Amino acid sequence: MMPEHHCRHLPIECKHLLLRDFRRSDLAQFAAYRANPDIARYQGWEDFHIGDAEEFFAIQLPLRFGVAGSWYQVAIASLETDRMIGDCVIHFTGDETQVEIGFTLAPEAHGRGFAFEAVSALIELVFNTLGKQRIIAITHAHNDAAGRLLTRLGFDQCEHASEGADPERLHTLHRNQWEAAINTN
Ligand SMILES: CC(C)(COP(=O)(O)OP(=O)(O)OC[C@H]1O[C@@H](n2cnc3c(N)ncnc32)[C@H](O)[C@@H]1OP(=O)(O)O)[C@@H](O)C(=O)NCCC(=O)NCCS
Repeated sequence: MMPEHHCRHLPIECKHLLLRDFRRSDLAQFAAYRANPDIARYQGWEDFHIGDAEEFFAIQLPLRFGVAGSWYQVAIASLETDRMIGDCVIHFTGDETQVEIGFTLAPEAHGRGFAFEAVSALIELVFNTLGKQRIIAITHAHNDAAGRLLTRLGFDQCEHASEGADPERLHTLHRNQWEAAINTN
């Protein structure tokens, strides 16, 4: 039987984590960490509830992977227990050569290198499997944890002219930078 929500490139197994499609059973955990003010601080939502998670899932369910303009959300789960510990997203911007990414971990999963592990796997998917040339990420300029993570992953950063009032940073990783970083490690 076809899973509820399906990307043929998933699941991806990492050392400690599994990147996989979202399931309805993830929604309580998803809503719980999105409702945490520390997690929401630099993101685009406020007062997240289970109803918002269900609405999110209803939008995700029929999404086909890779459609221009879509945001395809991927669950990050513990490899050992399969419990969801966070999520990441690929925004297919409409420019065939590049995608935008985003990521969030539940607070109990912070500070263990799990975001680095999950986003590294996402980057490999984007460059090696999807054949894109460039990845961008946009963060709030005060979001130091996200900035540190992207810098560790090899992204360059610059000020970004934001549409809203909040200062933003644009982080960019070219495929050749990633390949060079892998070859030197
Ligand atoms: C951004 C976010 C995912 C980063 O999570 P994180 O756990 O700090 O990221 P990493 O997986 O790279 O872990 C790195 C931290 O773990 C520590 N660490 C501990 N053990 C480690 C290990 N084995 N390997 C690597 N790092 C390890 C590192 O020292 C580092 O801490 P530091 O940043 O204080 O120096 C997290 O802060 C988050 O979910 N924030 C809210 C959502 C958000 O703002 N997302 C960005 C919007 S796009």
